[in-house]
Amino acid sequence: MGKIEVLKTVPIFSDLSERDLKSVVNKMVSQKYKKGHVILEEDSAGNRCYFLTRGRVKITRVSSDEREVILALLGPGDFFGEMSLLSGEDRSANVVTLEKTKALTLNTEDFLGTLELYPKVAINLLRELAIRLQKSDEQIASLSLSDAERRIAISILRIAEEQGTIQHGNVTIDPLPSQQDIANMAGTTRETVSRIYKLLVEDGHVQRISKKLIILDFKRFLKEFSLN
Ligand code: CMP
Repeated sequence: MGKIEVLKTVPIFSDLSERDLKSVVNKMVSQKYKKGHVILEEDSAGNRCYFLTRGRVKITRVSSDEREVILALLGPGDFFGEMSLLSGEDRSANVVTLEKTKALTLNTEDFLGTLELYPKVAINLLRELAIRLQKSDEQIASLSLSDAERRIAISILRIAEEQGTIQHGNVTIDPLPSQQDIANMAGTTRETVSRIYKLLVEDGHVQRISKKLIILDFKRFLKEFSLN
């Protein structure tokens, strides 16, 4: 796939004409990373924005008791690194690859210039930021629940909504993040995640096949565990 075709897979640029896509892509630098690579480090200075075209990353912070807290998981078509370029503050979180990852990147000047030149891109970015704020509010509400099963189920719901594929009312997450990553999203331990998975399987809520998790009857799962 050419660079323009790759850029078309990033939704915030979807309204641009072929000519405008070409002009943006000419300013972009492609990057490739291995699994486990720290792309951005919390509190460092920001000078680039990233548009994911392949792979997945986790957005993390370290809690006061030195535990990793996962704020979000992002995949192809998502962007990151925009916050410090817009706010002028240091990086707000770490960004670590979960698998082999590819990104197109823009430096600060070209990122801000693109938003000025193409208001539709700026509006798409604002829309996505509003959705992220909503998800963060939901995560805060979820973390205050004392019931670990519910917190884990809500984390699974979030991943299903972002990455899952639906078929006949069932949603498949493939690959499911590691038990430790789910624990770090839900504010619990890996052992608790393992125990709750067994309960969810026993109750007929989910099925696990190698690295996949299938939520059986997604509507029922939503009704049972969703905060809304
Ligand atoms: P920046 O602060 O430049 O560097 C870290 C990046 O992580 C940040 O920009 C965002 O792109 C991303 N990020 C931080 N918090 C969240 C969140 N709650 N949800 C999704 N992405 C986030």
